[in-house]
Amino acid sequence: MQKKGNEAKISPVLAYTMFDWKNVKKDFPIFEKRPDLVFLDNASTTQKPLVVLDAERDFYLKSNANVHRGVYEIAAKADQLYEQVRTEIAEWIGAKPEEIIFTKNATEAANLIANGLATTLGVDDEIVVTELEHHANFLPWLEAAKRSGAIVKITKLGVNGGTDVVSEINEKTKIVAVTQMSNVMGIGPDINEILMAAKKVGAKVILDSAQGIVHSGLRVDQHKIDAAFFTGHKLFGPMGTGILFLRSELSGINPLLFGGGMIKELPDQWLDTPHKFEAGTPNVAGLAGLSAAIKYLRQFDVKEIAEHERSLVKMAREELLKIEDVRLLSPQNATSMVSFVIEGVHSHDIASILGEEGVCIRAGHHCAKPLMNALGVTASTRVSFAMYNGPEDVEKLISAVKKVKEIFT
Ligand SMILES: Cc1ncc(COP(=O)(O)O)c(C=O)c1O
Repeated sequence: MQKKGNEAKISPVLAYTMFDWKNVKKDFPIFEKRPDLVFLDNASTTQKPLVVLDAERDFYLKSNANVHRGVYEIAAKADQLYEQVRTEIAEWIGAKPEEIIFTKNATEAANLIANGLATTLGVDDEIVVTELEHHANFLPWLEAAKRSGAIVKITKLGVNGGTDVVSEINEKTKIVAVTQMSNVMGIGPDINEILMAAKKVGAKVILDSAQGIVHSGLRVDQHKIDAAFFTGHKLFGPMGTGILFLRSELSGINPLLFGGGMIKELPDQWLDTPHKFEAGTPNVAGLAGLSAAIKYLRQFDVKEIAEHERSLVKMAREELLKIEDVRLLSPQNATSMVSFVIEGVHSHDIASILGEEGVCIRAGHHCAKPLMNALGVTASTRVSFAMYNGPEDVEKLISAVKKVKEIFT
């Protein structure tokens, strides 16, 4: 399914993509304000469609009030909006509304679940993570292990970005925390396989969906994961919005934040989930924006977006490989990104030169130091696509990378 006007757009230089990305791009005002912008840093954060900006502005213009506190008309509206967003997100991923917890980002959500589960762990219990993890799904588990005496086992990077999680799962395993999609490799481990092995030994499976949800979707009713988290700003929504899906069975874990809006009786009788996990004033305007972003995204078929992004990945890979000294790090089947190094050139130099050419990409360790170590690099360059990118962006990328080579030879 294409949104509006279904014509295929063919780039004159690099071939094919059938997705109507040019029409999609018109929904994102930044590209009108900055027509030369070649934004290929979407794994870091995505641009926002006008509907998202309007939804945030509308909240402040028409119904700005705090939630769960006031009884006047606009406060009731804010309350209604807040709970409606929860219901929409629950419906989107196949959860119950009370299983959706609002956080400020994926990192806070990961800390919430790791902190909450830490008290259920003991010496000799094992937590399995992979070398593919972003620090957001790595450091909170190291911390939980430090506090509980549990052991963190890190599964090694295998061929083509794979990692064998299943063989690390045994009777001692209590938690398996894995990424749905690595922010460097553009792929993730087989969740069904992991679930099967984990459920056999009664281990909980936690999924980092921060990258995966926008490219592959997430259905917690199909995949019986125990918890999953993602972040609004990577799916065309506002910064400062994050979601933790916490299966009802885990709602007894301790909150991470303590304060207003989470207490039934002093000193420690908490409200029921999800409110017990949402102390303090939430980002209601941001959630209005997130709701608009999800509605926007849901107009499209996630498989068609992934297909489009894969065709851009293919083009970028083919063209990059023609450039001397380029070494690709991410595998061929990556959904939406290409990570690479140019031998003899630091990734920050590549990013700076590309930046001068108006091509926005990411360089560095990508908050994935275990993966950088496994790949034998200290830093890498990442090009990441979203649905508004097209073959022209790849052309500009390639000519900018050629410039880097000219400067450094
Ligand atoms: C795989 C993955 N997990 C978690 C995060 C953390 O997201 P946030 O910074 O929004 O908390 C990121 C951000 O890049 C990510 O790529």
